[in-house]
Amino acid sequence: MLLEHFMALLVIMGLTSTFDSIQHKQYFALASELSNLIPDNYEGYEPQFDNSTEREIIAALGTTARMHCRVRNLGDRAVSWIRQRDLHILTIGIMTYTNDQRFLARHIDNSDEWVLKVVSVQPRDAGVYECQVSTEPKISLAYKLMVVTSKAQILSNRELYIQSGSDINLTCIAPQAPGPYTHMLWHKDTELVSDSTRGGIRVVSEQQMKTSNLVISRVLHTDSGNYTCSADNSNSDSVFVHIIKSEQHAAMQHELGVRLELPSLWLLMSLLLLLHVARRPLTPLA
Ligand SMILES: *[C@@H]1O[C@H](CO)[C@@H](O)[C@H](O)[C@H]1NC(C)=O
Ligand SMILES: *[C@@H]1O[C@H](CO)[C@@H](O)[C@H](O)[C@H]1NC(C)=O
Ligand SMILES: *[C@@H]1O[C@H](CO)[C@@H](O)[C@H](O)[C@H]1NC(C)=O
Repeated sequence: MLLEHFMALLVIMGLTSTFDSIQHKQYFALASELSNLIPDNYEGYEPQFDNSTEREIIAALGTTARMHCRVRNLGDRAVSWIRQRDLHILTIGIMTYTNDQRFLARHIDNSDEWVLKVVSVQPRDAGVYECQVSTEPKISLAYKLMVVTSKAQILSNRELYIQSGSDINLTCIAPQAPGPYTHMLWHKDTELVSDSTRGGIRVVSEQQMKTSNLVISRVLHTDSGNYTCSADNSNSDSVFVHIIKSEQHAAMQHELGVRLELPSLWLLMSLLLLLHVARRPLTPLA
C-alpha cells in the first residue's frame, strides 16, 4: 500500500516537473528523501501467516472441528479455505462456497483470525485443508484434520450379577478420545445417572486419563438395568446389571424351606407309624 502511494507521488511529481535539469535534481533529491521514509522491512507489510497456530487437528466423529488461521497485514485481500483432496474452495472470507453447509468460516471484525468450522465431522472430512491468501502469487498454510472414533469401553463382562446390598464399581475408558477434556457420561437405561434422585451414586472422572468410574453403593433390585458410558457423544458401550438376592437373603430362603419340609416329614413318620400299628393283629380286649 505504502509503495503504491510512493509510486503515485513520483508519477505526479514527474508530470508536474518541467524537464529542467535543476528541477530534475530537486526531483531526485526528494525521491531519495522519500525512499528513506520507507522502512527497510517493507516485507512486513505483506500478508503473513502466524504459523504458531495448531495445524494438526484431531476431532471426534460427530463433533465440530475448528481450524484457526491467523494472517497479519491482510489489507484488502481475502482469506479462503481450500480442501486439498479435490481443490474445492470451501469458503472465501466469511462466505461458504460449497453446497455442504457443514463448512463455515468464522471471523471477528478487526481480528486477524479466520476460522474454518466443520460441523458434525465425518470420516470423509479427514485430510488436508489450506488457508489461502489472495496475494500474487497466492500464499497458503496447510492444516491436517484427523477424525477419530472415540469408542468408549466399559471394563467388565457384558452382563453383571451383583448381590443386593453390595456396591457396583464400573470403569469406563475412552483411550482414543481427542483432547484431554473428554466428557464421559453415564446413563442407566435412558436416564442420565447424574440426574438420578437415588442417593449413593458417585461418578469419578479422570479427564487426563480418559477414564470414568461409576460407583453405586448398596444396590437394590431397582438398580438392575442397562448401564451405558459415552464419551463426547460418540460411540458408547453398555453392560446389563442384574441385581441378585444377597447371601443373607438366600440363607433366609433356605431356613424357610427347612421349616416347610418339616411338617411333611412328620406326616410321613405318622403315616408309617399308623401303618405299623394297623398291621399288628388286633388283640381282642380281654
Ligand atoms: C514460522 O515461520 C518462521 C518463518 O518462516 C519459521 O522460522 C518458524 O520456524 C515457523 N514456525 C513454525 C512453528 O512453523
Ligand atoms: C473403582 O474401581 C477403580 C478401578 O479398579 C478404582 O480405582 C476405584 O478406587 C474404585 N472405587 C471404589 C469406590 O471402590
Ligand atoms: C443398552 O442401551 C444401549 C444404549 O441406549 C443400547 O444400544 C443397547 O441396545 C441396550 N442394551 C440392552 C441389553 O438393552
